[in-house]
Amino acid sequence: MTSPALDASPPLGLLDLFGDGFVRDPYPWLDALRAQAPVRHDPGTGLWLVSRHRDVSRVLLDPDAFRPDNAQHAVTPLPVSALRVLARAGFRLAPALANNATAGHPGLRRVVTRFFHAQRVAAAVPVIERVAGELLAAARERLDASGDCDLYSSFAQILPCRVLMELLGVDGVSPATLIRWSDASLELFWGRPTPERQLELATLVAEFHQWLTHTVTDGAAPPGSFVAALAAHRRPDGEPLDVETAVGACFFVLIAGQSTTGQLIATVLRRALAEPGLWTRVADEPGTAEAWVEEVLRREPPVTTWRRVTARPVELGGVDLPRGAQLLLMLMGSGSDPEVFTAPQDMCPHRANVRRHLAFGAGRHRCPGASLARTEAAVALRAAARHLPAIRPSATAGDAPMLGLLSFRAPLQVAVEQPWGPRT
Ligand code: HEM
Repeated sequence: MTSPALDASPPLGLLDLFGDGFVRDPYPWLDALRAQAPVRHDPGTGLWLVSRHRDVSRVLLDPDAFRPDNAQHAVTPLPVSALRVLARAGFRLAPALANNATAGHPGLRRVVTRFFHAQRVAAAVPVIERVAGELLAAARERLDASGDCDLYSSFAQILPCRVLMELLGVDGVSPATLIRWSDASLELFWGRPTPERQLELATLVAEFHQWLTHTVTDGAAPPGSFVAALAAHRRPDGEPLDVETAVGACFFVLIAGQSTTGQLIATVLRRALAEPGLWTRVADEPGTAEAWVEEVLRREPPVTTWRRVTARPVELGGVDLPRGAQLLLMLMGSGSDPEVFTAPQDMCPHRANVRRHLAFGAGRHRCPGASLARTEAAVALRAAARHLPAIRPSATAGDAPMLGLLSFRAPLQVAVEQPWGPRT
């Protein structure tokens, strides 16, 4: 007999990873995958969906059997027109960080971790608070002028980009441009755009790549900047990095370091505003903002999936996979696995084992920006609750447009209003 829980499950045959139903409410699908088919081939993308926490962990912790080479492949094949645009810009995704299984990875990764280890992040808190304060002051003016405001475009999206630019010593480009390039890259490689849209996106990605190549090669990187650190880095054979690898590292860090954190802040704010009483508590209670961020990372992380490819035939979750099988690790679903987290559907800040979530991956490629992302999101939440204590979600907040890419999911709007409307 089927259990009542399974009766309520959506039929897995209808699963569309880019469909509105999955993007808006992925939980019933993720529960059904874990319960009925924990390692399942998805005909829509050709990927094997791996959804139980224990299987996802096993894959992440065994990078020799499950390689990261496919981490940045375009999930929707690029048409010739888009490939031509990229080729003209010299675009190539050389193995650098997330997609690098070579002996050069640990050294290059150390260049990144030196910028984002816990002490450096702690020292950056005043920078994060200053930028957050400036953006929220502008949001307050907008609220006073019109009575409502979108905290995604005015705050969540901009804060991580400005902070990252300061921490990495990036200049010569506006935050708005960097955000546009980064979002275009996510959509081109992790989205399901039409061929016309792919061409538009490829044009932006080509511009981004050309700017990065110029920045890496013009010899003008400020001392102490990320680009200067890459120039000083030596590979295991003692040689400097080639331009393609340095550009590949910058490309990934400039995308990973801001878009994902902006998405996390959007979800953190949206969920906090919807939770009765929480907005006041995060403003005043020590540790509550941090605990809320961690629980959001478990239940609704911005990086919802990540890819690996099998290096040899291997058994996983009772399924025999051939060499070269492309896996999609359901990071978000693993955070709601009842084998690990009791009452996973409930938001329980301070749950004892919350740090077992896999929102930042695990093992050799675990996200080196985790400390920065956590800190920025907690500072952002606390600052928003202190600067804008009276706001509430706008009437339309529930219908916010959603970003729904293969590996990235978040609200694209956090519409809020003040109860008394405009001040003028
Ligand atoms: C909420 C924000 C973020 C989330 C959810 C996130 C998540 C992830 C995930 C899932 C991976 C792959 C891990 C694996 O393969 O095991 C990753 C890798 C990576 N992330 Fe993040 N990330 C975030 C923010 C950041 C930030 C702020 C930075 C940099 C400042 C960053 C830089 C990187 C880099 C460089 C890698 C590749 C590491 C390697 O291959 O050695 N990420 N991230």
